Amino acid sequence: MSDPKQLNLFDFSDASEPTPEPSVDRDWIPLDGKVPIPPGTYETIEQMANHCHRCQRCELGGNRTHAVIGRGNLHAAIAIVGEAPGQREDETGLPFVGKSGELLEKILASVNLSTDREVYICNVNKCRPPGNRTPTSDEIAACKPYLLEQLRLINPKIILLTGATAVKGLLGDKRGITKIRGQWFPWEGRLCMPIFHPAYLLRNPSREKGSPKWLMWQDIQAVRAKLDELSIAEG
Ligand code: URA
Repeated sequence: MSDPKQLNLFDFSDASEPTPEPSVDRDWIPLDGKVPIPPGTYETIEQMANHCHRCQRCELGGNRTHAVIGRGNLHAAIAIVGEAPGQREDETGLPFVGKSGELLEKILASVNLSTDREVYICNVNKCRPPGNRTPTSDEIAACKPYLLEQLRLINPKIILLTGATAVKGLLGDKRGITKIRGQWFPWEGRLCMPIFHPAYLLRNPSREKGSPKWLMWQDIQAVRAKLDELSIAEG
């Protein structure tokens, strides 16, 4: 048997050349939604998106027009995580472009936040559930590695979770949104705040003190203040 050490004696390759990283097969998508996709699989959002566009880890993959990955600044300090694409999002391939998205943009603009600068928007599930039903626990679990990779790559300081499904999807917390909205939860060295889903605000238009819209206004101001505080702390 040859001694592997002996190879070194005859190895004339340039020692200054970096040793290649152990390779990750980025073309292999585990089809079974229960098989994990290891953290660090993707180097870019684009690589991840390529997998999502071909993904069949759950049945939602069979119905999509487009997998909806995200939009906004890829280096944003704030990531907003929604539930799943609706019809407009499935058609366009972009998250939050329907009525909910319009309202979300207005809420952000009210405290001078924008997807051009501070914000990146994505969803727990990348494919549209039929009839806009809530994604099942299995569908959420199948898609979760993509969300985790997305958050790792964007690397936001603050994550806003819109609605109960987003909270369940990332934190596994099944409490109702009314109970936990507006609170900060530490997660993986970042700060998460559950907020109302814009679709809920569209169904509850009152702006009276204590109403969902009024509470959202308190929450988004707290988010703005926290971002300013964190940026100052960083110098
Ligand atoms: N609702 C969501 O949760 N996500 C979208 O992208 C659109 C509507």
